Amino acid sequence: MNSRPGPLTPRNRVRELYATPLGRDIVDKILLQSGAPGSLVKLAGGLRLSTLERLTRRFTGPGLVDALLGLVNQHTEPVPDGEPSQAWWREAVFYQIYPRSFCDANGDGIGDLRGISSRLDYLAELGVDCLWLSPIFASPNEDMGYDISDYRAVMAEMGTLTDVDELVAGCHQRGMRIILDLVVNHTSARHAWFQQAIADPDGRYGDYYFLREGAPDRPPNNWDSFFSGPAWRWIPEADRWALHLFAAHQMDLNWSNPAVRDEVADIVGWWLDRGVDGFRLDVINYISKPDGLPDGNPFVGRLMEFTGIEHYFYGPQLDEYLRELRRDGFTRPDGSVAVMVGETPGIGVEGARLLSNTSRAELDLVFNFDVLDLPGRTRWHDYRYDLNYLKRFWLSWQQRLRPGDWIALFLDNHDNPRMLSKVGHGDERDPAVRTSIAKLLATLQLTMRGTPFLFQGQELAATNQSFAGLDELRDVESLNRYQELLVAGTAPEAAWAQIMAGARDHARVPIRWGDDQDFGPTAWLPGRDDTPGFTAAEQQAEPDSVWHWYRQLIALRREHPALTRGSFRPVEPGRKDYLAYVRELDGEAWLIEANLSGRPRRRPRHGLVAEPVLGRPAGPTLGPWETIVGRIDAVQQRR
Ligand code: NOJ
Ligand code: CA
Repeated sequence: MNSRPGPLTPRNRVRELYATPLGRDIVDKILLQSGAPGSLVKLAGGLRLSTLERLTRRFTGPGLVDALLGLVNQHTEPVPDGEPSQAWWREAVFYQIYPRSFCDANGDGIGDLRGISSRLDYLAELGVDCLWLSPIFASPNEDMGYDISDYRAVMAEMGTLTDVDELVAGCHQRGMRIILDLVVNHTSARHAWFQQAIADPDGRYGDYYFLREGAPDRPPNNWDSFFSGPAWRWIPEADRWALHLFAAHQMDLNWSNPAVRDEVADIVGWWLDRGVDGFRLDVINYISKPDGLPDGNPFVGRLMEFTGIEHYFYGPQLDEYLRELRRDGFTRPDGSVAVMVGETPGIGVEGARLLSNTSRAELDLVFNFDVLDLPGRTRWHDYRYDLNYLKRFWLSWQQRLRPGDWIALFLDNHDNPRMLSKVGHGDERDPAVRTSIAKLLATLQLTMRGTPFLFQGQELAATNQSFAGLDELRDVESLNRYQELLVAGTAPEAAWAQIMAGARDHARVPIRWGDDQDFGPTAWLPGRDDTPGFTAAEQQAEPDSVWHWYRQLIALRREHPALTRGSFRPVEPGRKDYLAYVRELDGEAWLIEANLSGRPRRRPRHGLVAEPVLGRPAGPTLGPWETIVGRIDAVQQRR
């Protein structure tokens, strides 16, 4: 019988730390963040953790190993294999809508629910299975809806509850599903709970948040906010500090209070009763904070850019809270479970498996963000993204997936610049290059094993914008960061370059419909791209367009389960600039091939012959960014 591995101590070795799920993720994350080579793990594998601490203390300061052990000892056993889920979302294509910028039915410059309803035929024609709406609930919009003041009311600009009901019904009539965004790590400071909490900090609602007494010039701990500055705000009315990991008025909820967890489960149930099919859960891995809110390790803080993060990115009660929420909120009276998609920043592959393996009854799918930037780079760096990294990342994921695991595949969302522009790095200003890269990304995302999450505009090859200055931006993160950089002495041009590399507003500009429902110059956030050929109307009219490529790929997936549930086998994985794999199920096999570079590349002689279904017949070379989806005939496949 296997004995349970006990907790690790400083006498254990680096390789034993690396053998635990969170230990592996943390070490991988440190390597990724610093750009250090993976071989370091092998080299240092035999070192005792106490020795490592001694050797590195000069740079890291004391306490690093203790901080690490506290985290990894939560899970010392490997994640189980689990059973495959039969749920619908394993085959689905999700489509994320950023409602403010999707479609504006009443012409006030802000996208709305009726606008979305008016485009359901467009979405059904594209073929997507499930919509995810970024927040539509009542909000003062300090963080564009991610600061909710009432979870059972709709933001006035977006419409009414009746409009939501109509939208849900419209989706279901067309055989589509719809999920909403559950933002419950924090509420807006305008939420009635917070208002009551600060009116009476010792009353019932005081304990809904992290309110702390103290001196107004000394925050309760050293945690940083993700949107610049400390994670604490002094509230004079209450004579207390209040915790906010995000913007100054996004107040963190105290999940260790059972009443908070009951409220959240009730909100979920209320919306499920209205017919929604599940939720995407905003920063859901941050909900559990340790008792006493200890200071963060300053070295970890510098490395990860946010002091304190080791205490809550996989907090002590996270698993427990998620299980409870699944049971009390997401499980319907008939026993079926509405889909739970976790937004989980900082979570690595093993953490993702812990949070979403079917054996663990927590989340269904999680997003892993390590795909977005090259090792040693962050979103704020201006660089050309190399798709060989995406290849390495996805292939290693595929290798590590067990039957009970699945991954959410995404390249774009409302929090990141467009992947197409990161890969093109300016070359995509040429419409032909723009089209090729967009088709390549579409192919990989829609034929890799996992559930694709498309973000609005990908199907139109949307790119980053050439914003002219700060007054064209709306996002609190960018605006705060710019000021913070200036205060720290960064020259304005250099600060602006960072903001332009990473601004979330690139992806948030309105969809270019190219018809009489376009947003126009009064849009809440005007876009600058006006390249001919890339409006929805133009893309739909052109048979060779990116839009039709997406439509055809999605249709293929639907028709051929090999492309969804099929097995996955890489072909010539060591070949640079080349990504190929076979998807296979019940005797049907598909070959996907791609040139990951902007130059022609010879195709390796792998001996597989496939009939192209999308793309041109394969010759000896692949053109720049070229991709081919082909069917391997049955005879050949048996060989
Ligand atoms: C993640 C969301 O995607 C982002 O837009 C938001 O700013 C933060 N969570 C805070 O809610
Ligand atoms: Ca509107």
